[in-house]
Amino acid sequence: MEEVNLDDSNKPLVIKVNNLTKIYDRTPAVKNLSFSVKQGEIFGFLGPNGAGKTTTIKAMLGLIFSNYGNININGYNLDIYSKHIKRFIGYMPEKVAFYNNLTALQNLNFYVKSI
Ligand SMILES: Nc1ncnc2c1ncn2[C@@H]1O[C@H](COP(=O)(O)OP(=O)(O)O)[C@@H](O)[C@H]1O
Ligand SMILES: [Mg+2]
Repeated sequence: MEEVNLDDSNKPLVIKVNNLTKIYDRTPAVKNLSFSVKQGEIFGFLGPNGAGKTTTIKAMLGLIFSNYGNININGYNLDIYSKHIKRFIGYMPEKVAFYNNLTALQNLNFYVKSI
């Protein structure tokens, strides 16, 4: 069920991350991270190399699983609505790989099918 997440100014929260923790082997990549982003807000997610930005974003996209914590996108809990959430998020990765033997449209269709 969609939660109604409102902040103090009654704007819905589009991203809500609570106590996110991701540990690779024994290395904590993200430790107890909590933040939220409200509708219309321009949010800069900054930090030095290795701070855990990419890990956090991958967890928000449902591409990796966290060890602890929870993520809500538009009020939908990622653990339950991972597939649904993918319909209204976009992500531009720093490195992109396309198949050279496929056309642009075939590449897009391939990635759409994998969701
Ligand atoms: N797949 C992985 N396996 C092991 N360690 C990883 C992996 N991905 C990231 N890390 C480690 O997690 C930490 C956070 O990395 P990352 O999320 O890529 O940071 P950022 O994007 O802020 O530079 C770093 O110490 C990095 O070496
Ligand atoms: Mg990164």
